[in-house]
Amino acid sequence: MMSFLLLLLVTSDVLAATFPDICEDYTPCSCQQYDAYGLIVRCGDPFDHKSPITSLDVHHVFNRTKARHVFWVDLFSLSPEVNSGDVIKIPVDVLSEKSVDRLGISCSTSAGPLIMEIHPDAFRSSVHQMGHFEINGCDFSRLDFKFLADTMSLISLGIGPGLNFRGFPTMSFLARVTSLRIYNYLEFRHWNQIADRFPLLESLFLDGTQLGDRSINKLVHSIASSSTGRHSLTQLSLWENKLNRVPEHISSFKNLSYVNLFGNTIRFLAKGSFAFNPNIKVTFLILTRNALERIEPGAFQGDFSEAIIYLDYNHLTRFDSPVYQKLLEQMQSLSSAAGIHVRNNPFECGDCHLAWLIRDKPHLLKRVFGGRCSNGTQFEDLKPEGYHDCL
Ligand SMILES: *[C@@H]1O[C@H](CO)[C@@H](O)[C@H](O)[C@H]1NC(C)=O
Ligand SMILES: *[C@@H]1O[C@H](CO)[C@@H](O)[C@H](O)[C@H]1NC(C)=O
Ligand SMILES: *[C@@H]1O[C@H](CO)[C@@H](O)[C@H](O)[C@H]1NC(C)=O
Repeated sequence: MMSFLLLLLVTSDVLAATFPDICEDYTPCSCQQYDAYGLIVRCGDPFDHKSPITSLDVHHVFNRTKARHVFWVDLFSLSPEVNSGDVIKIPVDVLSEKSVDRLGISCSTSAGPLIMEIHPDAFRSSVHQMGHFEINGCDFSRLDFKFLADTMSLISLGIGPGLNFRGFPTMSFLARVTSLRIYNYLEFRHWNQIADRFPLLESLFLDGTQLGDRSINKLVHSIASSSTGRHSLTQLSLWENKLNRVPEHISSFKNLSYVNLFGNTIRFLAKGSFAFNPNIKVTFLILTRNALERIEPGAFQGDFSEAIIYLDYNHLTRFDSPVYQKLLEQMQSLSSAAGIHVRNNPFECGDCHLAWLIRDKPHLLKRVFGGRCSNGTQFEDLKPEGYHDCL
């Protein structure tokens, strides 16, 4: 124990750059001070187990503490005041006159989602600084976004699971938002407002929304056919949306470099499914945990020299040269982490279709990760001689 403490003392100077500094007392909230960002204050229990806090508790804390600016405030599992029935009310200047860059709010769900009501002036001291707002776990029927109407720097908005979301308002601050994330919100039905209200989206994450092919196709089409969205969108994530096929208009985006379709039920990739702009370097293409059986030559087009492609946990039996050879050849730069991840696919190694890779171009194998035959042998352990008789 002693030597551990000594070690801590000796190394604390070295660690000072990364370890949080001491900050003033935010009880019952906790706080950390980071050189690189500033203060991070968390109130309540993210797992909704311990004693709940109310917005009055939060108000007292910020009324008492001195720091004028907090980088990140998370208010976890807020509960109603004693006399507020089932409504959680966030009052005027709940953070006193303190300003905040990033703000997250969640409602206590131990008694089912509670109605959240936020006063239009609740965060008025942050209208200049606030860049990110996120809310989840609430009944959103009274969420009117007026408390964000005067924000001038808000570029990132997140909405998590909850009830009764009534859609995005026609307020001009939304036109500044470049990152929208809706996650695990099964009732989300306002996808048809996105292209219109968020003309400058760069990142759209609709994860776990289970919207299905029809709605997602229309959504992607509406952004791809807008004059701005078509150029601005760089990241598109559509996890767990019950997709049976790749949305049709993905290849219309001029600046798209990240696509995540994790956890859908796509079985087939047709030619041109992912035809990225050749002037853009693809970063990630994620198709993990789909139902892929077949991929047509030309399914992947664009600059994949720095791309990481995930095809793991699918039903692929073939690793054909017309599909993969050009990609692997693009990925040969030593400095990049580029590669194709294919773990957990039942590849058939007994016929000749792998001869191109194992026998003729074994140097390309170092960019194929986790390849394994249905009989358990790894691609790396296949013998080139096994393919002598192939054409
Ligand atoms: C905030 O602090 C001031 C001065 O200490 C006090 O008069 C006021 O009642 C406090 N307000 C709240 C809501 O705690
Ligand atoms: C394309 O994306 C990059 C960043 O990924 C951005 O700097 C650039 O402005 C975007 N181009 C257009 C036309 O929006
Ligand atoms: C699996 O199949 C490949 C290709 O036919 C063969 O080379 C390898 O020896 C087999 N592995 C086992 C464990 O049978």
